[in-house]
Amino acid sequence: MLATSTAAEQKSGADSTAYLRRRGRDFIISLYGTLRAIKLYPVEHTAVQRSLNELAGITDEILDRERELELRFSGEFLFINSTRLRLDLTNYASFGYLLKICRASGIGLIRVHPNTTDRAWLVFLSQIDAASTEQPDERREGVISRLAAAGFTSLELGPPQEDQVDQEQSKQLQDAANHTYSRSVALTRDVINSVRLGRAPSIKKIKRVVQGIVDQILNEETSLIGLTALRDYDDYTFTHSVNVCIFSVALGRRLGMSKLQLFDLGLSALMHDIGKSRIPVSILHKVEDLSEEDWKGIAMHPWLGVLVLFQLKGQQEEVSYRAMTVAYEHHMRGDLSGYPQLVRPRTLSMTSKIVAVADGYDAATSRRAYQTVAYSPAAVLQEMRDNPRRGMDPIVVKAFINLLGIYPVGTLVVLDTFELAVVFAANPRLDALSRPIVKIVSDAQGNVVVPPLEVDLAQADVNGDYPRTIIKTADPDRYGINIGDYIV
Ligand SMILES: [Fe+2]
Ligand SMILES: [Fe+2]
Repeated sequence: MLATSTAAEQKSGADSTAYLRRRGRDFIISLYGTLRAIKLYPVEHTAVQRSLNELAGITDEILDRERELELRFSGEFLFINSTRLRLDLTNYASFGYLLKICRASGIGLIRVHPNTTDRAWLVFLSQIDAASTEQPDERREGVISRLAAAGFTSLELGPPQEDQVDQEQSKQLQDAANHTYSRSVALTRDVINSVRLGRAPSIKKIKRVVQGIVDQILNEETSLIGLTALRDYDDYTFTHSVNVCIFSVALGRRLGMSKLQLFDLGLSALMHDIGKSRIPVSILHKVEDLSEEDWKGIAMHPWLGVLVLFQLKGQQEEVSYRAMTVAYEHHMRGDLSGYPQLVRPRTLSMTSKIVAVADGYDAATSRRAYQTVAYSPAAVLQEMRDNPRRGMDPIVVKAFINLLGIYPVGTLVVLDTFELAVVFAANPRLDALSRPIVKIVSDAQGNVVVPPLEVDLAQADVNGDYPRTIIKTADPDRYGINIGDYIV
């Protein structure tokens, strides 16, 4: 039988984590310092000797206390034994440099055994660097055999293991997101179509969609948000409702809402345009210029939405008043200059403000019947932030930009290397809003890059410079690029 750990053991586990975080950082910095000293000075230089002594001191101390010392790279993370080291601005340069050098040398694991001498470190560290034409695996094997030939077996090196696991894991996450997204669109289609036919849609179905989206966002939001950029012209009505729901729930989460509040918000967002299903499809799908009458019809949808939701109240499952408020208020704008026009002043609910931001963004970046040009996501965000006449709540817009990055997923960008790239994901680092993760689709000469090269624009080089920076956004149609090919 497995014994549960005692309080003392748990405490010592916590102590060990705190210790490894602190001394592990010192170990990394010392390793980095030694590596730099070896590259800069001759071996006999005091700077090299001092660094090696310090490194040996720290490794001995950690080994004495923890009985093991293993440095492992997993994706962008660094682990000492099983403790993940936190990356911050003070250690970013040393972490990044080590990560890069080890990756180029095919090393994902360094296990340090007791009795590792200065000389072993020296032989090891002088053999690794970032510039080489050899394949990483060959390089690692070369280093291992040279260490063995010199009689140093106390440093054990291993290949990175994370790649396969990471890829499998990210595929699983993407599959789960695809499943949630397509199921949500299908169920929303059923709901909207039954309202069109004059039937009462099943609230259970609606709740199932929202539950799926809330669960997925709480679990892993990036993949689902990425899917909102796959704009399907024919399915606009259904995908728009689902996208607005996804953006709203992700926003609500950023703004600190509870799971229950997110559910309520998601339901209101999914149903915000339900009133449109009472407007003739001939008007909604009209391609030529809309007459004033047609616009009047469309402007009725907030009211009609309240009526549809009100009729749903008869069912056993309840629909919240909040959903009705959102259907009513989502086009009003902060200064109430929108529609429906009011006789008395009114304060918009927070839910309506969130849905208005999500709705405004999705509508402006999509192509639909009466808007044949879709604006670039980055331009839309900027307009929402800078043009007060849009009537968006500034705090909600700020949270939205934090969520999507300045260049949202699906934006085509030109880099200062003159390469073209498609934004693939927002950078998880909050200080890197303008440096998303991109896929480079063509090189400086305009040749297509196959397969596209994934690059984190926040990754600085050894000197702390960024190899690539976005200079502007571009229109995918002009370059004949189908964004959807690059974001799933
Ligand atoms: Fe609307
Ligand atoms: Fe809408």
